[in-house]
Amino acid sequence: MVELGKRKRDKNLLNQQLREKIQKLKEKRNAVILAHSYQIKEIQEIADFVGGSLALSYKAAQTQAKVILFCGVRFMAETASILCPDKIILLPDINAGCPLADMVTAKDLRELKKKNPQVKIVVYVNSTAEVKAEADVCCTSGNAVSVVESLKNMGEIVFVPDKNLGSFVKKKTKRNITLWNGFCPVHVKISAKDIENKKKLYPDAKIIVHPECIPEVVDMAEEGLSTGGMCKYARENTKIKQIVVGTEIGLLHKLRRENPEKDFFPASESVICPDMKLITLEKVYWALENMKYEIKISSDLRFKAKKAVDEMLRILPQ
Ligand code: 13P
Ligand code: SF4
Repeated sequence: MVELGKRKRDKNLLNQQLREKIQKLKEKRNAVILAHSYQIKEIQEIADFVGGSLALSYKAAQTQAKVILFCGVRFMAETASILCPDKIILLPDINAGCPLADMVTAKDLRELKKKNPQVKIVVYVNSTAEVKAEADVCCTSGNAVSVVESLKNMGEIVFVPDKNLGSFVKKKTKRNITLWNGFCPVHVKISAKDIENKKKLYPDAKIIVHPECIPEVVDMAEEGLSTGGMCKYARENTKIKQIVVGTEIGLLHKLRRENPEKDFFPASESVICPDMKLITLEKVYWALENMKYEIKISSDLRFKAKKAVDEMLRILPQ
């Protein structure tokens, strides 16, 4: 017991020293730290801004800093590089990827367009730059419904790569959408049984889930919302005191911090994204010290991928 307490104190001291070193390096490098809401709490606490994919893209585009240290996964850092070619984008762990993003390739999309040149490809931001370069318009979980609704051409839409978000959009928009067979291995862990159990445990709580969850789970929830949408829901619904949250558990830290008067419960304790959890304070310090790993999209690829991102920003300006 005494040993455990000492270890905890040592860890706290180490983290405090690291935070101070990171702060100094950040100033020296003229860097800003952007963190996705699925990051561990220590990272959320040192970040200049914590948010969902959509908000992080806008923040990256607006910052005056020279260096953007992106605490998230690779596709997010790539999106920042697409939007800010003059900035240095750093990802503290080069292995922080997104298995969902890897479920579709640029080659798949080229073959699809060859077979069906009329098709409109809507690409979820959780995708590689190469895939974005083959798509017509990009979207996030927060704006996918509006992006699809804005498409004038009533022909076939192919939504890549997430079949669950795609199915959510299809239901909301009633458009002719073909779904790609990709999924988030983290969000599909939430089962209908989990939701049933939480409903029994917290009968007064509202249930909100990410649209990357399976349709059965989304149908049982009050709303399907992006991480940014969940924060807004908690902030604006002042009368609601208890919320069951169906997404990666990192978001609960942000929700609790912003709404101390409310109770938040995870829909399932096992919804942990191993890629998001690769980023640590040590790696952030190392990344700023060594200016690694730089994520840079070649200008040719950037030009092509940016068209789909610009189209999203044109439809939904911030
Ligand atoms: P948001 O776009 O809602 O922030 O989610 C990103 C993500 O990776 C979900 O798994
Ligand atoms: Fe990718 Fe899923 Fe992790 Fe989000 S939670 S980064 S979609 S694997």
